[in-house]
Amino acid sequence: MFESIQYPGTKEENYQLLSKQLDSLLEGEPDTTANLSNASALLNQFLEQVNWVGFYLMKDGELVLGPFQGLPACVRIADGKGVCGTATSEKKTMLVDDVHQFPGHIACDAQSQSEIVVPIIKDGNVYGVLDIDSPIKSRFDENDQKGLEAFVDVLKKHI
Ligand code: SME
Repeated sequence: MFESIQYPGTKEENYQLLSKQLDSLLEGEPDTTANLSNASALLNQFLEQVNWVGFYLMKDGELVLGPFQGLPACVRIADGKGVCGTATSEKKTMLVDDVHQFPGHIACDAQSQSEIVVPIIKDGNVYGVLDIDSPIKSRFDENDQKGLEAFVDVLKKHI
């Protein structure tokens, strides 16, 4: 049974702990859907002030909704569109302080004010993205970016 733990350190230390927790949680399980589902659930209990956390997966050139926690969301996002499609076309993390200022932002949950999207690049190919929305502006900083990119690096071993 999964047991919640405390994250008592600095943001950096807590993200390191989270990545270790992810690695042991997914250890030995080859099923990608199961692992992405548990990764989104783990993040959802770790992160404060978020209203959506989950994955979009690249299929036939477009991003398709994958395992997530939050309200039902838009299912398909074209490459290059929205924050998610920009992260995949530019192959870099998008840290958006105010989604209303991001041209082409796709609003799935009216509550969302800020967002971070980390592309998942596996063996040189875009596999998908980790997408996290917050109901407050400027929720994510560079420490979140580093921590979440490290989280995705661990996740890649299990998908
Ligand atoms: N806001 C995203 C769409 C996905 S939802 O946030 C869950 C975007 O602009 O790509």
